[in-house]
Amino acid sequence: MAQTTENQHLREEFNRWAESGRGEGMERDHLPITLPVLDRMQLSPAESVLDVGCGAGWLLRLLAVPVTEGRVVGMDVSDEMVRHARSNCADLPHVMVVPGSVDEIPWENDFFTRVISVESAYYWPDPAAGLREVFRVLRPGGSAWILINYYRDNPHCHQWGALLTIPTHLLSADEWAGLFRGAGFTSVEHACIPDPTAGPTEYTGRWFRDAAQLAAFRAIGALLVHGTKPGL
Ligand SMILES: C[S@@+](CC[C@H](N)C(=O)[O-])C[C@H]1O[C@@H](n2cnc3c(N)ncnc32)[C@H](O)[C@@H]1O
Repeated sequence: MAQTTENQHLREEFNRWAESGRGEGMERDHLPITLPVLDRMQLSPAESVLDVGCGAGWLLRLLAVPVTEGRVVGMDVSDEMVRHARSNCADLPHVMVVPGSVDEIPWENDFFTRVISVESAYYWPDPAAGLREVFRVLRPGGSAWILINYYRDNPHCHQWGALLTIPTHLLSADEWAGLFRGAGFTSVEHACIPDPTAGPTEYTGRWFRDAAQLAAFRAIGALLVHGTKPGL
């Protein structure tokens, strides 16, 4: 893995998250926005799928349901997240988890039919370079699916940047789509994925001002950007 200072900070921060159980805990928040993406992807049994920033591996287990004959690979910059994901997927022989950063994906060219990434891409030190690597490991005709909750067009998440202890990129949907095109992707589209989860009447966490802001955030929803590697 590239030993950059940025990767070192990411590894240390997300190792702390993993050690405190936040890896597994993210499933509750990310599942409602991820299920509609899996629905759109329409995975078939023989596909090879990479999950970039797989965290504790709950999505790897979901991907392994339709992908019965192919391969599901999780990759994460945090070795503690990798350890958790390996343990959580130990009963699934066609799932493997590798340490690695998106700026240097430890895999050969033209391999995967799909790459998915949930709530990770705004942490990547250089999102344009990360998308070029995603493009490299996809085979022609394969597609990339990036889902993020922190983006400019949803004003109810902008406060997260100051609350997080690691650098983030607050880009608009059009900027993300431009990065996809710059990496070589075609048929690039983006959409908002609202979160249907019923909100609390009172919010006591630190990420939102109050319950009304959480509801407004979920109503706009996450940003999904996807594109295809041409060449088939
Ligand atoms: C907010 S967590 C989301 C984890 C998981 N996708 C989920 O939804 O539960 C972000 C994850 O992205 C990983 N990550 C951040 N930057 C990365 C990079 N440059 N390369 C690979 N993984 C990265 C982190 O280690 C962390 O596990």
